[in-house]
Amino acid sequence: MSYFLGLDISTTGSKALLMDATGVVAGVAASPHTLQTPQPLWSEQDPREWWQAASACIRRMLADSGVSGADIAAVGLTGQMHGLVLLDAQGEVLRPAILWNDQRTQAQCDEIHRRIGRERFIQITGNVALTGFTAPKILWVKENEADLYARAARVLLPKDYVRYRLTGVCAMDKADGAGTVLLDLRARDWSDEVLTALEIPRAWMPPLYEGPEITSVLTPEAAAATGLLAGTPVMAGGGDQAAQAVGVGAVEPGVVALTVGTSGVVFATTPTALIEPQGRLHAFCHAVPGLWHFMGVMLSAAGSLQWYRDTLAPQMGFTELLEEATPIPAGSEGLQFLPYLTGERTPHPDPLARGAWVGLTLRHTRGHLTRALLEGVSFGLKDSFTLIQEAGLGEIRQVRASGGGTKGALWRQILASVLETELVTVNTTEGAAYGAALLAAVGAGHWSDVPTACATAIRITGSTDPDPAQVEAYARAYPLYRELYPTLRATFAAM
Ligand code: XUL
Repeated sequence: MSYFLGLDISTTGSKALLMDATGVVAGVAASPHTLQTPQPLWSEQDPREWWQAASACIRRMLADSGVSGADIAAVGLTGQMHGLVLLDAQGEVLRPAILWNDQRTQAQCDEIHRRIGRERFIQITGNVALTGFTAPKILWVKENEADLYARAARVLLPKDYVRYRLTGVCAMDKADGAGTVLLDLRARDWSDEVLTALEIPRAWMPPLYEGPEITSVLTPEAAAATGLLAGTPVMAGGGDQAAQAVGVGAVEPGVVALTVGTSGVVFATTPTALIEPQGRLHAFCHAVPGLWHFMGVMLSAAGSLQWYRDTLAPQMGFTELLEEATPIPAGSEGLQFLPYLTGERTPHPDPLARGAWVGLTLRHTRGHLTRALLEGVSFGLKDSFTLIQEAGLGEIRQVRASGGGTKGALWRQILASVLETELVTVNTTEGAAYGAALLAAVGAGHWSDVPTACATAIRITGSTDPDPAQVEAYARAYPLYRELYPTLRATFAAM
């Protein structure tokens, strides 16, 4: 019994990660998910597909690594946050899950603020109601699918649906729970005031647990489906951003996690339930017991690059594409990119914001388009980084960069120069699934607490310093980037 399993139910796929008792990754397997966009602004997935993908990748991971299910001491869960899974009283899925990047609920967000009062809502939950969060999705189903809503009996988040299939038990961790914006942030528990105002029965909401706490054990049916052992403990884990922060060791104030995945995130641990008074930063519980965090979230970070490659250069590899951008001068000779391809959250909570290249001339090549895209996403992340710097958290001692977008030297260099800070990388590159495995190990008593687990398993492997010439170029380009969204906002809305 010397292994721990981290299971990540992300938007693009499920990933099973095996970690040994020293914190070394002993195996990884992944299975893709499909995504449905039945209408503009909508984003949905079938929860049953998550379960199929999750059980398939656990089986494959066990087969590939040669490790027996009996040697896995505990499972930790993580996954895409905010997605609404509705179950009926028999535990059957009522409709496709409405995901974190679905933008259909602006009217319901306005209604939440109207019912509770915007200021009061921020005071209780730490956040403004945004289209991505879970609460407005529940109101949307009530307003638009009344028959189905009448049969609802349980609200779960994506990874917690997989937990339900693993254990037969409905449960949720507090980090992901906070992302429903139905939580009293300070109390780390459901807010009766918010639930009552939104007419959501408390009985629909599952019990909440700290990240390393045990929620239940594997059923014989789940054991048969996965190859794990019946009775294996399943720990709470955390929403993907909190688990990602654990996975890179951002578990104390002063150490910031910068993640450039499909979404882009700047994550800072807070010692108490701090709230950004205007709700511009998300404020949620951390997966570390008794801690909270701020985060700024950009919806299309490496997702912008992925779209660009797939759409405009499908025959090219990312390395090749980025090579063309390397000799282009910082600032892309006046070309700017707005990365709001799926609307935006921080700092412009606007589902109707759109992407754009602005400033094209005949001189610009594909390399310029690529470089401007990397720079535009970096400027968007600087918006969040600046809000975190100004949030009164004290000194930022270290920024730990991770995610697919930070693998290449070019984008890391641009980020360091735009943010004007050193970026360090760590030995653990498997992100949220690794964080979930660490949380499972702590829950099983293998390490005494999360910071101890991180200090044992995670070390710094590299660093990138700002380049002074680039810093100067970006200090000139960033104010222009800042002007573009306010200038184009009304046009985007009209479009
Ligand atoms: C965080 C968020 C995204 C998803 C992506 O608030 O919505 O990062 O969790 O998986």
